[in-house]
Amino acid sequence: MNDKLIIFDTTLRDGEQSPGASMTKDEKVRIARALERMHVDVIEAGFPIASPGDFEAVKAVAEAVKDSTVCGLSRALDKDIDRAGEALKPANSARIHTFIATSPIHMREKLRMEPDQVLEQAVRAVKYARKYTDNVEFSPEDAGRSEPDFLCRILEAVIDAGATTLNIPDTVGYSMPFQFGELIKTLRERIPNSDKAIFSVHCHNDLGLAVSNSLSAVANGARQVECTINGLGERAGNAALEEIVMAVKTRRDFFACNVDHLDTTQIVTCSRLVSGITGFPVQPNKAIVGANAFAHESGIHQDGVLKSRETYEIMRAQDVGWSDNRMVLGKHSGRNAFRTRLQELGIEFKTEDELNDAFARFKDLADKKHEIYDDDLQALVTEVNLSGEDERFKLVALRVCSETGETPDASVTLIMDGEEKQTHAQGDGPVDAAFKAIESVVHSGLELLLYSVNNITTGTDSQGEVTVRVKKDGRIVNGQGADTDIVIASAKAYINALNKTLVPEDRAHPQV
Ligand code: KIV
Ligand code: ZN
Repeated sequence: MNDKLIIFDTTLRDGEQSPGASMTKDEKVRIARALERMHVDVIEAGFPIASPGDFEAVKAVAEAVKDSTVCGLSRALDKDIDRAGEALKPANSARIHTFIATSPIHMREKLRMEPDQVLEQAVRAVKYARKYTDNVEFSPEDAGRSEPDFLCRILEAVIDAGATTLNIPDTVGYSMPFQFGELIKTLRERIPNSDKAIFSVHCHNDLGLAVSNSLSAVANGARQVECTINGLGERAGNAALEEIVMAVKTRRDFFACNVDHLDTTQIVTCSRLVSGITGFPVQPNKAIVGANAFAHESGIHQDGVLKSRETYEIMRAQDVGWSDNRMVLGKHSGRNAFRTRLQELGIEFKTEDELNDAFARFKDLADKKHEIYDDDLQALVTEVNLSGEDERFKLVALRVCSETGETPDASVTLIMDGEEKQTHAQGDGPVDAAFKAIESVVHSGLELLLYSVNNITTGTDSQGEVTVRVKKDGRIVNGQGADTDIVIASAKAYINALNKTLVPEDRAHPQV
């Protein structure tokens, strides 16, 4: 039998738990739409009880997405489940995902509960969630370190209580592939009513084994994998969706399930979108979505590929969307062509003002850069979303003087709290000078943890996309900026991070 493998994407929930990767409601909706275009089966949109912002984001995704199931996370508590049920009301198809820890260490140290109490609470939560939907998923958190006997007991009980998906998380990324596959096999064999539910897995990447563990589980009967775009997620991340999907697709001879329902050509677009929004760059040698994933450098390889592609390529770059980066618009394109292309990319603006703002930025960019690609448009829209009206700091102008043998000097004009300020500073390089000039006005005391520049498209006229990661009062925030001038892109990224540090974050964390 060749079953469908259900792809459950948790970029918007577990992915968002990466330090600095928090997303706005609109950003979540954009990513959710892109996942829907890929035909991802389930989109976990957030943890509604975590904060009012999370609640609104899950609701907005539930309103926007029509074809995929939208899921909300909840602890095994009535108040969490109520919040998830409420946020998911507008969804065409909704799932509540409830969880409680089952490993001895979590039960003893974190929950301070006896196993029987945990079992009772799990059953109660599943029954309670069924009041909202008959699509209920249960996760025994830290299953990878839980006693198999207890897992069998609790999972049998939650199936009887109405859970339709049993998700087995390797929460701390501790399992080994063979062992994790065996665990899934054992659970399926030993739980008497196991045929009444779908087995799912959710693996973390602390030992770099999230994808291997997930695939080993699939080989042993798991029929749902929880994963994230670019492997984003808590600590070292989750299993990367693109790797799971392409492994199952490419090795259809090996797996007894398929991902034929997915439009894999959307993968690269999704990857870029998530990277642009979160500011987490994709490493060049990352499988499937890295810039070098399909590049052949050595002469022997190039020669082989030219003679017959299959000599060194096991997948086609077009199948994951690499060739889709079309030159779509240019300097003479009108507003309608601009709007139409954005609609084709699944991007819609809520107001005409936003569209006008984006169109003005597009015209500016088209003046500097003759060929505008889809990725340029995605970056431009990210920038429109980043620059909220109520931002405290805005970049007005930047002039940098950089000359061989001279110390670079930057002059910056900023709006701060509605007032225009001008300043200048010198630095070790043009970017350093620009950041110092900004700091001389804002006095934020941000600690810069990371600075990285990536080209959005190819060529020397490509826009540079800059990511900065900063720390303020223990909180880590990412900022992004894009421009054909990388010093301007850097200043935009720094100001974006600055503005983000001012937005209060009052989210609860699911694992705490
Ligand atoms: O890693 C984990 O255990 C989780 C659960 C909430 C499923 O994210
Ligand atoms: Zn997780």
